[in-house]
Amino acid sequence: MDISGNTVFIPGSTSGIGLALALELHAKGNTVIVGGRRAELLERIAAEHPGIDTVRIDTADAASIASAAEQVLARHPDLNVLVTMAGIMRVEDWHRPESFLASAEEVVTTNVLGPIRLIAAFVEHLRAQPDATIVTVSSGLAFAPLRATPSYNASKAAIHMLSESIRLQFADTNVKVMELEPPSVRTALLPGQESSDFAMPLEEFVAEVVELIETRPDAREIQVERVKFLRYGEARGDYDQVVATLNAADPHGK
Ligand SMILES: NC(=O)c1ccc[n+]([C@@H]2O[C@H](COP(=O)([O-])OP(=O)(O)OC[C@H]3O[C@@H](n4cnc5c(N)ncnc54)[C@H](OP(=O)(O)O)[C@@H]3O)[C@@H](O)[C@H]2O)c1
Repeated sequence: MDISGNTVFIPGSTSGIGLALALELHAKGNTVIVGGRRAELLERIAAEHPGIDTVRIDTADAASIASAAEQVLARHPDLNVLVTMAGIMRVEDWHRPESFLASAEEVVTTNVLGPIRLIAAFVEHLRAQPDATIVTVSSGLAFAPLRATPSYNASKAAIHMLSESIRLQFADTNVKVMELEPPSVRTALLPGQESSDFAMPLEEFVAEVVELIETRPDAREIQVERVKFLRYGEARGDYDQVVATLNAADPHGK
């Protein structure tokens, strides 16, 4: 995707990576629509950033996705970029099913079913645009597992393979599929992560992402330098070492 001139909907951008990316893309000359559940944040973002539109959406709820898609497309008929950013991460103890099952189901509903339903809601519209991009959001943990978060890791591995697969289906169309693969970044995704030394500063991460999109607008995967340790362990042949190092540094320690 070009770095400017798009109309971009980012469900999951009331905070963290989504919000930082929304503000950066807005500053770069894109029309941006911020989506999420927290109405008070949507109101504040609209008030503080004139020109950014907002839509309330719960991506774990099929009806909410349908209604938000209708609103977004009615107000922005030239929408050409969908970023499936919304995601949750939960620490789980798989020795105790009663403690993790409900949470694991929420993770799969939000992180896997959410993007699938979002893409289904927008794909016909995107196909009708001259140049469109679906940006999916996986994780370095799609490629090396953090012991504490099994369902999350699995959900992001699913997003990686979904991205690879639909890119094949859209190969001869105007729809590109770009997979964003963040490493650990300082956001509120997990308690304590915003101040973690292990995680990458948010502004640094988003600046590198924007630079990568600018220099490689046709990239299939957006990989900042910090994620390559996780992303390419298997290819390098040091996967076991990567998994050991990742989990030795894990503050959740399950
Ligand atoms: N930070 C990292 O280390 C990291 C690493 C790899 C991948 N990622 C991925 O990056 C994405 C953004 O996460 P983040 O780190 O920026 O965390 P975050 O600050 O917690 O942001 C998560 C965003 O998703 C939204 N969201 C969550 N559930 C939603 C739902 N059911 N419906 C609509 N919106 C929902 C939240 O908005 P509301 O609460 O307002 O709905 C919020 O805007 C996620 O997909 C995450 O898995 C993050």
